[in-house]
Amino acid sequence: MMHFLSNESIPFFDASAITKHIKHQIKHFQTYENAYSFVGLPYDHTMHALIEECIIEKRKLSPTLLIVIGIGGSSLGARAVYAALKNSYQDNAILPILFLETVDDDVARMIFKRAEKELQQGNPILINVITKSGTTFETIKNFDIFLALLKRYRPLDYQALIVVTTDHNSALFHQAEQEHFTILTIPKYVGGRFSVFTAVGLFPLGLAGFDTKKLCEGARDITDAYSENDQANFAAQSAFLQYSYYKKSFFLFDLFLFSSELEDLGKWYRQLFSESLGKDIDMHGNRIDAEIFFTVSLGSADLHSVAQLYLAQAKHMFTTFVVVEQNNHFYDKNFLLMIAQATQKAYVKKNKPFCTITISQKNEYSLGQFLQSKMLEVIYLAKLLQVNAFDQPHVELYKKEMQTTS
Ligand code: PA5
Repeated sequence: MMHFLSNESIPFFDASAITKHIKHQIKHFQTYENAYSFVGLPYDHTMHALIEECIIEKRKLSPTLLIVIGIGGSSLGARAVYAALKNSYQDNAILPILFLETVDDDVARMIFKRAEKELQQGNPILINVITKSGTTFETIKNFDIFLALLKRYRPLDYQALIVVTTDHNSALFHQAEQEHFTILTIPKYVGGRFSVFTAVGLFPLGLAGFDTKKLCEGARDITDAYSENDQANFAAQSAFLQYSYYKKSFFLFDLFLFSSELEDLGKWYRQLFSESLGKDIDMHGNRIDAEIFFTVSLGSADLHSVAQLYLAQAKHMFTTFVVVEQNNHFYDKNFLLMIAQATQKAYVKKNKPFCTITISQKNEYSLGQFLQSKMLEVIYLAKLLQVNAFDQPHVELYKKEMQTTS
């Protein structure tokens, strides 16, 4: 379960236009007619069944390692859930996943060596290449290298060991068809950073052994709660609160997570926030001069790092704390929660505004709630800031430059 708490009164803004979209998407899930369609993904049991079928088929090959090749929205969601939960399972209950995102020699070499070792021992490894566009430089480069590796060690069955997740009709889709790889498609209007509840997140997580049904159930329950009751709509409330500070020239938004295993979840949200809201032109074509910036901090390590700056300076910073109530009894008390509460007292004393998300227990259900809630929050924020949450024109700039230099 997930709870939201603010010690400030939440200003009222009219959320009805967005809430209407949410309700529409719940009712008409599976139609995938516009960018809001991501809302309905956790309800799409037909899509879930197709993914599950693929998981069952690939499990039969008994892979000992899964390599996910993808970057940005094509990787961060699955990576966040994997990092948050893998230690809560018994040894060997979860298939190890290695995420290959960028073209970093050292990381790629390490993953390559690990993959090669498995193959030399006769163990099948599975490659899941994920790219919505089917053209992202880093992903295609890495896929070529790992495809060659598979072909070398498994010339007879390498096709079965590859799952391509991409848009219907992308260049990679056609390559996959020609080479007889398994293909999972991403609904057309669902953007990368909103795609964790498609095959992008559900296939690797499900194959690894996580309970993706619970992940989707958490997402559905929170969406239903938000659409049925404005008082329970923490996504809107959190967005309104942050926006009211933005209007008072607060431009720095920090997500302060008190759980080391949630660091990647912070990175997932950093990407969602930054690519969706970091725009210089609003929906009406007007220039935006006000700045907005997003950071992720980790308790309690960052209290011994950036907290000095946060508390002494950072006059225009709004913080969202994320705390976990569950105590796994390694220590006799939940010291991390106690430190988070002490930090909040210090924030109150220094007049630093904040709100708190409490996760009662780290599991698939609460993470499903968190992921969906944060995607909805970004939609409310985009509406308030009057920006298009679904494009990322400035990311495309470097991609275009790469096409001319590579
Ligand atoms: O959220 C987004 O749309 C981006 O971060 C993309 O996920 C990222 O650029 C990778 O793109 P693709 O999935 O096309 O390889």
